[in-house]
Amino acid sequence: MKTHNISASYTEYDNIEELTSEDRDLVLAAREAAAGAYAPYSKFRVGAAVRLDKGTIVKGANVENAAYPSGICAERNALANCVTNFPDEKAVAIAIAAFTQDGAADDSVSPCGMCRQVIAEEEFRNHRKIKILLSGSQRVRIIETMKDLLPLQFNKGNLRIDHP
Ligand code: THU
Repeated sequence: MKTHNISASYTEYDNIEELTSEDRDLVLAAREAAAGAYAPYSKFRVGAAVRLDKGTIVKGANVENAAYPSGICAERNALANCVTNFPDEKAVAIAIAAFTQDGAADDSVSPCGMCRQVIAEEEFRNHRKIKILLSGSQRVRIIETMKDLLPLQFNKGNLRIDHP
């Protein structure tokens, strides 16, 4: 019998000014993207912005539905847009920002389990880490790879098939 320990780390910045200009632009794009949310049920508007390896920034927002499970999160909306419209580019970073009815959510929002799985798929198939930037109203947390948020992940390697 052997016990394994899993550890993960992230970096915390007190405010957006401490980020590199590239990271700052991505967080600002995520905050902007939240304006496009359709969130009449939760009133929780989320924006995501993905940076692709050639520099393109692709935005997404949460889109809810009267049939609640039909709604989609900002992160998956942004990534689906990347895969569909920029098939030759690879995601290298994703920023996420959220707003309640009272304004920017104080604390940063971390992607839900389903979005973690989708971000993990992009990392795995592209053999590239995706940096995750979680923006609160002030503080920004940066995680270098989805492996830190989703350890022991299930991915296409487990299926043992030769699909590209
Ligand atoms: N939501 C996101 O878009 N991303 C997250 O990371 C967390 C949750 C959305 C889903 C739903 O429209 C609303 O926020 C409340 O859960």
